[in-house]
Amino acid sequence: MTDEPPVVIRRLSYRLGDRRLLDGVELSVAAGESVAVMGPSGAGKSTLLALMIGLARPSAGEIRIGGEDVRRLSGTRLAAFRRDRVGMVFQFGELLPELEALENVAMAGLLAGRSRRDARAEARALLADVGVPVRAGVTTAALSGGERQRTAIARALMGAPPVLLADEPTGSLDEPARDRITRLLFDLPRSRGCALLVVTHDSAVASAADRTVLLRAGELVEDPALTGCAR
Ligand SMILES: Nc1ncnc2c1ncn2[C@@H]1O[C@H](COP(=O)(O)OP(=O)(O)O)[C@@H](O)[C@H]1O
Ligand SMILES: [Mg+2]
Repeated sequence: MTDEPPVVIRRLSYRLGDRRLLDGVELSVAAGESVAVMGPSGAGKSTLLALMIGLARPSAGEIRIGGEDVRRLSGTRLAAFRRDRVGMVFQFGELLPELEALENVAMAGLLAGRSRRDARAEARALLADVGVPVRAGVTTAALSGGERQRTAIARALMGAPPVLLADEPTGSLDEPARDRITRLLFDLPRSRGCALLVVTHDSAVASAADRTVLLRAGELVEDPALTGCAR
């Protein structure tokens, strides 16, 4: 182990046809730190997250996540990296609606090769941490939007990944639920020591982050006006 930050991105460029969507992106996120990424729709925020988990390949630059050089990973090593090094939360949670919350979260552990008993025990503990009651026979289709997002966060935390990514995680929630999910998410770097990167349109969400950066014209720039409002 080195003390390299869990997220290190240098001179990252990504071309889409003849468009330079990302053009020299620099970002590092320390363990225990949270960063919000804002920027206009279509700016490439989701693409940046896709590059970070190896779903897309950069045109140039360096991406190191949880100590791994993502560009060098493929096949089973890439799958293992996604399973062990990063957790991801999406706007709509992307849960399996016909399964219970416990089953959704435990699934992430089973896929990582844990025993059923072990995966369910950790899922139970994570759901308790995020405040979702474990109820037999209640599928996630029956949960509120806020409970679904809590479940998605618990699932992303399975296996204690050093990096947690979230793409518009509060985009589908009403204001009270948004505020509760925001508090839950932004407490995680402190309580679990992970690095957190949250893409959001909502400055109320971004203001809970340690830093806010703007993706604009292919570059990430620090936004001093939005940084550190929470503290
Ligand atoms: N698979 C794809 N094929 C073609 N264009 C895409 C694809 N994915 C995203 N784009 C385009 O790339 C740009 C950035 O998309 P995205 O990263 O989703 O933006 P953001 O998340 O900031 O709204 C948009 O112009 C979008 O239309
Ligand atoms: Mg997006």
